[in-house]
Amino acid sequence: MSDLTTVPLATARLALRSVELDDVPTLVELANDLEVARRLSRLPHPYGEADAVRFVTEISRQGAHWKVVERDASMVGIVGLNPPNSGTAELGYWYGRRFWGRGFATEAGRRVVAYALEESGLEALVSGYFADNEASGHVLRKVGFVEQRRSPRRCEALDRDLPHVEMLLIRDGR
Ligand SMILES: CC(C)(COP(=O)(O)OP(=O)(O)OC[C@H]1O[C@@H](n2cnc3c(N)ncnc32)[C@H](O)[C@@H]1OP(=O)(O)O)[C@@H](O)C(=O)NCCC(=O)NCCS
Repeated sequence: MSDLTTVPLATARLALRSVELDDVPTLVELANDLEVARRLSRLPHPYGEADAVRFVTEISRQGAHWKVVERDASMVGIVGLNPPNSGTAELGYWYGRRFWGRGFATEAGRRVVAYALEESGLEALVSGYFADNEASGHVLRKVGFVEQRRSPRRCEALDRDLPHVEMLLIRDGR
């Protein structure tokens, strides 16, 4: 049995908390960027206030989704576990472009993976990245994922199928 909720989490540099309607302006500012959206399968582009409100009130309430906040500073991105199915959830994340390259995705990813597999009782996590997004592939490998298979996946922002790498992390296989 898994019990997946958006409990507050912390790392050395980051606080992970649930998103609220107050976060809508920052979500729009960070997510309305084609360089972010083209690397994700389901982030609309352009990304407006209605998209952010829907994320806060609907999407983020399914599974567990955290805003990633640099301690004593502002939101840098989002990390989430999409609703579990038979003991498995899908890890997804994005960070505002000006916050890339500082190790935040790896640091928050490690904490969420530990929460999912050691604290919430999930058996496995799936994730994936578009094949040209080597930074994300690197993050996933660093937190323990291994490649499963490659097959095209829809990119909503670009409205076309792109080469995609499916990744898997099994609790007892780490
Ligand atoms: C992908 C993304 C999450 C990475 O976030 P980040 O905080 O910059 O990631 P980190 O700094 O923790 O780690 C990135 C790693 O990839 C490496 N990297 C960066 N660009 C790379 C490239 N072009 N090729 C190979 N490795 C690369 C970095 O050196 C770093 O590895 P290191 O710590 O061993 O040096 C961020 O760029 C992002 O939000 N992109 C848009 C949305 C997205 O891609 N989400 C994931 C969808 S699968």
